[in-house]
Parts: sequence; structure tokens; C-alpha cells
Amino acid sequence: MPIDHVLKLYSESIRSPYLHYGFWDDPESIDPNELTLDNMVKAQGRYIEHLASFIPDEVKTILDVGAGIGGNSSYLISKGYEVEALSPDEYQETVFKEKYDGQVKFHRSKFENFEPEKKYDLVFESESACYIEIEPGWKTAQKTVRDGGYLLASDYFLYHNDGSGDWHIKASHDEKSYIKKAEEYGFKLIKEFDQTENTMPTLDGAKALMERFIFPTFEYSSNYLGKNHPFILKVIKKAFGKKVDDKMKQLSLLDSKDFKKYKRYMIYLFQKVDES
Ligand SMILES: C[S@@+](CC[C@H](N)C(=O)[O-])C[C@H]1O[C@@H](n2cnc3c(N)ncnc32)[C@H](O)[C@@H]1O
Repeated sequence: MPIDHVLKLYSESIRSPYLHYGFWDDPESIDPNELTLDNMVKAQGRYIEHLASFIPDEVKTILDVGAGIGGNSSYLISKGYEVEALSPDEYQETVFKEKYDGQVKFHRSKFENFEPEKKYDLVFESESACYIEIEPGWKTAQKTVRDGGYLLASDYFLYHNDGSGDWHIKASHDEKSYIKKAEEYGFKLIKEFDQTENTMPTLDGAKALMERFIFPTFEYSSNYLGKNHPFILKVIKKAFGKKVDDKMKQLSLLDSKDFKKYKRYMIYLFQKVDES
């Protein structure tokens, strides 16, 4: 994979070291219309703090899989863990090189294709599990985690598939298949936490921001072009009309009610069975 431009755009525009959702301790008290980008970035900080609290005490070495632009690795290093990072993305590799000047080893590879030179106490998958194919991913995990070690995954998983082909269904793993495969490859689920409610203000806030800034900008530009340069508007519609329509349909991904209809945002801690 060369560069994931959506993640690059996200990291450059939001200016956060994280590419994951935010975590709110008291989600009911949040008014999405009042959320600012700063609130969102702070909530991303709480997400990693909360997720890291699931790391068992004896863990020392961590492979940060799907490491993004390094926010989680920095946090884990600050807590005293020895961290290496992995991602297939060229841009993220450059960010790591600039940030750590080679002090954090970066493996540029899909996890499915990774050939580990050593075993780690814990494989850390923060919002990257859904990018990794289920069976090849567990196969790699089996040779990457030491016996008795752990895999900590935090991601959204499908619990309900009504066959509608909704965008939410396309973009995530079925939770039962994921856990079943884990068992087949020697990983036992020892802890789980449903953080759906705690993370949903991310979607509600993003939707409110889109409705406040992006949609009116589109509407203004389209009205302006239609009035002053109708030919240009026609050309743009012809060239990008379908793509824009598809993107608009994908915006249902920002609807937390739709999200909850199909998915749960879970933390799963697995332990690799000790066969010695
Ligand atoms: C949503 S981002 C999460 C980044 C980071 N873990 C965080 O929490 O901020 C998903 C990450 O998974 C990476 N990724 C995509 N496909 C992958 C694969 N097959 N194996 C490992 N990482 C992958 C992406 O490049 C990106 O770094």
C-alpha cells in the first residue's frame, strides 16, 4: 500500500497525532453542536489512555500495528513500554522517521505479510483490526506474539447484518467470525469492553461540523457557479457527479444511529495460549 490519502488528509487537517475516534467518559452530557476540533483531539487522548489501561502489568514489549502517525506509540513509550511500529503506508513511515529519528523501529508492511524477527509481549491494534484480513491476520499474530502474550484490539465490529449492503456493513469485520478465528489460532478472549456509547460523540460531532461548514460551502459554490459560470458547473457535475453522489452516500457513515444499528465499538483483549 503506498499512501492512504484519506488518513493523510485527516492527519493534516485535524492536526492530531491520532487517527482514531475520541472517548468520552460521560457521553450523555455531550452536545455535538458544541463540540470543537480541540474537544475532539482531547477525546482522542482519552481514548488511548483508556485503551492502554487494558494492557496487562507484565507487558514490556509492544508492536503497534497500524501505527498511523505515531500518537499511540508516543503515549506507550511515555508509559515505559518498548515499542516498535508497523504500517503499510509510506507517508506514515516518513512521519515516524521525522518524529523518532530512527529510535522507534518501523516495519513497513501489511500485518498479514509481516515476518517477525522476534516475538512481542503484546500486539496493539488501535482501530487497525478492521483493515487486517481476519484469517491471515491471526496467522501472523500467532508467530508475532510470545506464548502467554496478548493481542489488544480496539475497533468497530459488525454484530448485525441485514443483508442491505449498507456502508457500515462493508467497512468492518463480523465480531463472531473474528473471535472464532482467534480461537482457532490459539488466542483466548479474556476481557472485553463495549465502548460504543463512549465513542459516538465523534460521529455526532463530525456530522454537526459537516452540516455547519462543509455543506453550506458546497451549496454556496454550486449556487455561485450556476449563476456566474453555468458551463463550468455542468463540466464539474459531469466529471465528478457520480463520485460526489457516492461520497454523499458514504456520509451515512457519520450517522451514529446507523452505526449502532449494525456495529459495536469494542475493546478485545486476547491471550495467546501457552503451549509450553
Ligand atoms: C484508522 S488508522 C489508526 C491509526 C492508529 N492506530 C491510531 O489509533 O491512531 C488505521 C491504521 O491501520 C493501517 N493499516 C491499513 N491496512 C493495514 C494492514 N493490512 N496491516 C497493518 N496496518 C494497516 C493504516 O495505514 C493506519 O495506520
